[in-house]
Amino acid sequence: MAGVPSGVALITGGSSGVGLAAARAFARRGRPTVLVARRSGPLEAAAAELRTHAPCTPVALDLAADDGTVEKELTRLAEEFGPVEVLVNCAGHGMYVPFLELDPAEARRLFQVHWFSPAAAVRAVLPGMLARGRGHVVNVASVSAKSGPWGHSAYAAAKAALTTLTESLAAEYGGRGVHFGVVHPGLVDTPFFGAPDLAPLRARTARRMIRPERVGLAVADLVERPRAEVCVPRHYRVLDVLRAVSPGALGRLVARQSAPGRAAARGRRP
Ligand SMILES: NC(=O)c1ccc[n+]([C@@H]2O[C@H](COP(=O)([O-])OP(=O)(O)OC[C@H]3O[C@@H](n4cnc5c(N)ncnc54)[C@H](OP(=O)(O)O)[C@@H]3O)[C@@H](O)[C@H]2O)c1
Repeated sequence: MAGVPSGVALITGGSSGVGLAAARAFARRGRPTVLVARRSGPLEAAAAELRTHAPCTPVALDLAADDGTVEKELTRLAEEFGPVEVLVNCAGHGMYVPFLELDPAEARRLFQVHWFSPAAAVRAVLPGMLARGRGHVVNVASVSAKSGPWGHSAYAAAKAALTTLTESLAAEYGGRGVHFGVVHPGLVDTPFFGAPDLAPLRARTARRMIRPERVGLAVADLVERPRAEVCVPRHYRVLDVLRAVSPGALGRLVARQSAPGRAAARGRRP
């Protein structure tokens, strides 16, 4: 990214946590941003802060909607505020529920936010990026995509789907000036863990959490130095090695690390 960037960064989930940290990193480099999330209050607060560095447009939109409005609205945004040079698909929420207690409607909603809406966002901006011969799509997945932790049967599957979506996009459209990358954060200290079902996980893992700024910088860095995948912290890359060597050992390690207790590890709520 040489000089002051002109193309817009469209960041879903840009009002909080990792998305806001990424938005700050782009804005500080002078890049205009468009932030998408549901609640106007946090969106307006984030936009007011970012505007001290670069133009910022906050847009309230529920990415869980499955009636076609998401793609329509994101296409409109790209036309009105673009050209979009950077798309960061970061919006999302978590779930920490054993499989047999999972509400199928909640699981569908989760896939809507973590796969269908990111895919709709790509459909909204990719044709323009290809026509201009430049652009970056960064999808924020999770290290849980690599392992299938306790309580994450829908969440980890959705993040794995987002990861392979990124890979398929690179296979189909890579080499035409548009870069596709995925960021896998570990445990990040954000309002993500405010949901009641995630509170036990937060309590057990607080000491291992990293700051969202670290992930936000990794997102911005992926645009400056395009790569297929980044884990934050980097040591999570060992999960790939462990899977290749012994998927069973990886499963046991991740189950131990993620289950809230022995009873819960046998499939009951903490
Ligand atoms: N925190 C972690 O430990 C962690 C680890 C790995 C991966 N991640 C991933 O990182 C991403 C960001 O999470 P975070 O930790 O930064 O959480 P966060 O602070 O709770 O931020 C989530 C953002 O997504 C927006 N959002 C949530 N649901 C939405 C919807 N239906 N429509 C539109 N916007 C929506 C939220 O705004 P509104 O609520 O106003 O809509 C907020 O801006 C997520 O994809 C998450 O899965 C997080």
